[in-house]
Amino acid sequence: MRFSGFSKLSAAGKLNKLVEEGILDAEALNSLTTFQPKDPLAQSLFEKMAENVIGTFPTPYSIAPGFLINNKPYVVPMVTEESSVVAAASWSARFWTERGGFRTKVISETKIGQIHFLWSGDPGLLSQNSPAIFSRLRSSVVHLTKSMEYRSGGITGFELLNLTNSLERYFQIRVSFLTADSMGANFINSCLEMMAAELCRATEELIPVADSPEIIMSILSNHTPDCRVECMVECPIPELAGIRGVEDPADFARRFSLAVQIATIDPYRAVTHNKGIYNGIDAVILATANDFRAVEAAGHAYASIGGQYRSLTSISIDNNIFRYTLEVPMAVGTVGGLTKAHPMAALSLKILGNPTAGELMQIAASVGLANNFAALKALTTTGIQAGHMPLHQRKQKQ
Ligand code: MEV
Repeated sequence: MRFSGFSKLSAAGKLNKLVEEGILDAEALNSLTTFQPKDPLAQSLFEKMAENVIGTFPTPYSIAPGFLINNKPYVVPMVTEESSVVAAASWSARFWTERGGFRTKVISETKIGQIHFLWSGDPGLLSQNSPAIFSRLRSSVVHLTKSMEYRSGGITGFELLNLTNSLERYFQIRVSFLTADSMGANFINSCLEMMAAELCRATEELIPVADSPEIIMSILSNHTPDCRVECMVECPIPELAGIRGVEDPADFARRFSLAVQIATIDPYRAVTHNKGIYNGIDAVILATANDFRAVEAAGHAYASIGGQYRSLTSISIDNNIFRYTLEVPMAVGTVGGLTKAHPMAALSLKILGNPTAGELMQIAASVGLANNFAALKALTTTGIQAGHMPLHQRKQKQ
């Protein structure tokens, strides 16, 4: 096997092997060296983050200044490779700061974990015994939940689901968690695996007439509709004046509203619309070393929650007030994971004033709404090429 033992080689050994195999040449080695952290501490940090590390892949680290969120000013770090995203967020931040800023609230921070299992006994018996089983499950993880409870987190509920109509013998225990300022994936997964073992013991003891459950898997769910944040901007329609390309604010509001309605009824447009929201959200999630795959997956699932993929934003124009709202799920942390271990993530959190997880949800949502507002403004006025992508075009010409 050409690459057997590759993972055991030192970083230099891996490079040699790739040269030997003709995968890397001198030019490639030069690129890798150019972007290699000079500080050995940083290098060893990256080597610990993933496997088979042979280099780092730098991406621009930018600042979008001038956000006003719930009357508090923020300077927001953004990591993105897409030109014009930071400029668009900054433009929007300034525009809305002059009109009262972003109003946000965390709707809830509940996350879900699932124990998936097969059981051939009488579902009625399982249901009757579920309070006793839940209590045993809870007790089995007290040593894990104690410190989380101290931080106002922990397990907040259990639910038994009989899904035997969809899959033979298939049941699920759905556990609700609050994870304070951590994203909580490790905590949730540790609790679930321990509780799954206890589920087998408790069921055997409480319902001896049936076989023990067969645990299929225990894992958190990245579908987080109840870990959700709302973000809104509003102003009287005449205050929409002053945007380049807008001569008539009422007509701008009408066209903007139509763009949102189109993204609500047409999934092809909705995906692009929501992608523009994640231009902003992902950049903040990346800058704080949070899990952008989890955040995106949750967002797109939430966009489909009514059975059809839709815009994550909604608009209302009542009594001459333009009100634009984003509602989005988001499981993030400001402690644990890489949030402090990655020096750039720690820096981002410091720049943001060391927010709680809830605050970070509100900041990221505001940047998402800012980017989407800038995109729709450009699309419904000057067009995206003139309004939104001049930097991109400049880069292409270089
Ligand atoms: C480009 O990255 C994002 C946009 O396509 C978003 C949108 O169309 O709303 C401009």
